[in-house]
Amino acid sequence: MARCLVTGATGYIGGRLVPELLAAGHEVRCMARSPGRLRDLPWRERTEVVKADAADASQVLAALEDIDVAYYLIHTMGGSRHFAHQDRQAAEVFATAAGLAGVRRLRLRAEMRLPGLAWLELSVSRSDAGTVYRQRAFFHPHGLAGHLYWWAVSPFHGLIFGRMPLNVAAAAARREFRRPGRS
Ligand SMILES: NC(=O)c1ccc[n+]([C@@H]2O[C@H](COP(=O)([O-])OP(=O)(O)OC[C@H]3O[C@@H](n4cnc5c(N)ncnc54)[C@H](OP(=O)(O)O)[C@@H]3O)[C@@H](O)[C@H]2O)c1
Repeated sequence: MARCLVTGATGYIGGRLVPELLAAGHEVRCMARSPGRLRDLPWRERTEVVKADAADASQVLAALEDIDVAYYLIHTMGGSRHFAHQDRQAAEVFATAAGLAGVRRLRLRAEMRLPGLAWLELSVSRSDAGTVYRQRAFFHPHGLAGHLYWWAVSPFHGLIFGRMPLNVAAAAARREFRRPGRS
């Protein structure tokens, strides 16, 4: 059982994920800018709800307290014509806060229309040798089309995601180098 934070709980995907997590026996905390929008949902009473805007680091840090797994299901499309910038800013604030809060796993839902559910899971753990970063791509196929899709693309996964850990590690090293007190 994990303690899960579901962002975007008032949205289409988040609202469908919450009951699935509860049914699987997980504890769920929903993060919403307007918690009142969750009031009438049948699973509301079985969750904890916190009010937070993804662009506000202190609110996000409070929402992430004691959380094992965070689901980032936020987007601002339709809100403003600057949505791309707002989306990037919110995602950066959230990722930084998740790192500070010690969240062990971050799951990103695939954007593409696929014959199944796809997640990219990023996790960080400590060992005597230092920090260990892992990434895993998950795919739950839907029907025969999903299985065919998986067998067709799985040989190329190394090619698609292979450089990503190196880029993440290089970006983390650059950020560490730029921290105050470092030369
Ligand atoms: N829908 C699909 O079929 C589908 C398929 C594949 C991938 N996805 C991806 O899944 C993610 C969620 O999509 P969706 O369709 O569920 O979106 P959605 O129904 O439009 O919901 C977006 C959610 O983001 C929240 N939000 C926006 N800005 C926020 C902020 N600054 N702080 C906190 N919450 C904020 C909204 O909350 P408020 O109530 O406060 O506005 C809402 O709950 C997106 O990345 C999308 O690209 C969706």
